[in-house]
Amino acid sequence: MKTVELAKSKGLRGEISPPPDKSISHRAIMFASLAEGKSAVRNFLRAEDPLSTIRAFRALGIGIQESGSGEIIVQGKGLDGLTEPFDVIDCGNSGTTIRLISGVLAGNPFLSVLTGDDSLKQRPMARVINPLRQMGALISARGGDRYPPLAIRGGGLKAVNYDMPVASAQVKSSLILAGLYADGTTTITEPQKSRDHTERMLAAMGAALTVQDLSVSVTGGAKLRSADVTVPGDFSSAAFFIAGAIITPNSEIIVRGVGMNPTRTGLIDVLNMMGAGLKLENARTISGEPVADIICSTAGGLKAVKIGSDIIPSLIDEFPVLCIIASQAEGTTEIRGAQELRVKESDRIRAMAAELTKLGVEVQEHPDGLDIKGKSEINGGIVESYGDHRIAMSFSVAALIARDPIMINNASCVDISFPGFFEKLKGIAV
Ligand code: S3P
Repeated sequence: MKTVELAKSKGLRGEISPPPDKSISHRAIMFASLAEGKSAVRNFLRAEDPLSTIRAFRALGIGIQESGSGEIIVQGKGLDGLTEPFDVIDCGNSGTTIRLISGVLAGNPFLSVLTGDDSLKQRPMARVINPLRQMGALISARGGDRYPPLAIRGGGLKAVNYDMPVASAQVKSSLILAGLYADGTTTITEPQKSRDHTERMLAAMGAALTVQDLSVSVTGGAKLRSADVTVPGDFSSAAFFIAGAIITPNSEIIVRGVGMNPTRTGLIDVLNMMGAGLKLENARTISGEPVADIICSTAGGLKAVKIGSDIIPSLIDEFPVLCIIASQAEGTTEIRGAQELRVKESDRIRAMAAELTKLGVEVQEHPDGLDIKGKSEINGGIVESYGDHRIAMSFSVAALIARDPIMINNASCVDISFPGFFEKLKGIAV
């Protein structure tokens, strides 16, 4: 529950590497658990969310240890190797853990109960419960089958064709995982493309999986091969440094080893539209994912932009920090089609509107987004994190240019995705 105080910076300078990717860390542990034999996960993110995934798969009978050199070694037992958990599985704060594991458990003929912290227990689960029931799983949940805890008795799944009402990599991945267990070919279609780490990794491990435009098809029954995975740097964590360098005068930084999967980098496109000159170097591929180094420097004369639903999935986790950048762009930035942000770790639309207003920025809240007026002076003061890691980190970026220091309440939530964030930010601030 600590409060962190951050003061204005004279510029960000130097080189920095973001922590390993959270989404890919979760998937590497999950898919290796379902593969045949031993896999090694290198550069695994040791943060609260992916650690929830490790705990969950241990509870399902999978051996997961850290080797002397820091790799995570997973003793996969194949798709049918999981065992009934002895107790309720606590997914902590992690939406990715609870939603993806629901798909796996829907395919397994035993009872499991999934729960989480107070934030997770308020996040919508009907989006996975309904299609998994259509496939044949028995699932009950709190609040009229809408919220965790969830009780799942799986097995005997049949393939379905499912059109997802909202773009969500968590829902898509949950259904792909259930599809690995189903009799026949399951096809899932999204309204927009969400992150595709699941498709890339499962196909590389031997799943019978094809992708066509917005549809993914998976045929049940194919065994997964074990694989050694190296996790690239997390674009969503790098985004805080990129944003900081762009809005803070006298900044120039290199962010190394950043995952550049195009389903994740919508923020780069928006920053280019705003007029920030980012340079990419050293493009390469790590474990089937594109990676690059990003050179970012202070961008004067940023221009406001209009953002709609098409681009939202590719910057879904960057919305809070984009709001901070928008406050420094000339004109009114309009963000729409972002209603999903209301059901993240906090209601991020409400949170950003309330806290930016406290700091003196003119903001107009809409059901599906915000209007943010720039270029605004950011005052100092006390802001709330709402226990949401990305809100806490976004206001740390705002503090770099605020007139007076910003105090962020309940800031330990950064440990969900980025332990050591404050120290790393201070390390590049001159
Ligand atoms: C994630 C998908 C996103 C994202 C979350 C991680 C994932 O959620 O917001 O932080 O790892 O699949 P949705 O796809 O449900 O929007």
